[in-house]
Amino acid sequence: MSKELIGIAVDHGGFVLRQPIVDEIHALGFEVLDLGTNDTDSVDYPDMAAILIAAFRNRRIRRGVLVCGTGIGISIAANRHPGIRAALCYDDETAMLARQHNDANVLCMGGRKTGPDQARRMARIFFEMKFEAGRHARRVGKLG
Ligand code: RB5
Repeated sequence: MSKELIGIAVDHGGFVLRQPIVDEIHALGFEVLDLGTNDTDSVDYPDMAAILIAAFRNRRIRRGVLVCGTGIGISIAANRHPGIRAALCYDDETAMLARQHNDANVLCMGGRKTGPDQARRMARIFFEMKFEAGRHARRVGKLG
């Protein structure tokens, strides 16, 4: 069976977390679709979010990670797209609940707010946790 492909896109503020997260996704046994950016030269976070969303739209991926400086701009950008549930997470519990309660399909983080060890832990939790469904399915259904 082929390994699931997980997408990641970051802006210059999120670049510092790109490699640690890529390493963790590999350690989990998934393949990585690395969509850049590839250095700390300035790029616009809506553009990086759009690149990841395009990979959802053409069905290359069904889960991904976005990182900007705070995680705020890139999560706002991603959530403007139907079917995308992007969760800005900052600790183990938010990463867990984003999956269990919100069925989030994009993990967002802030490269200027979160260190590499925490980022790796959140990626592990996020991609291992299952959606609890039940009452949460009704609520997620109302998101459209
Ligand atoms: C870029 O300087 C910064 O604004 C961006 O990475 C992000 O933090 C926006 O929300």
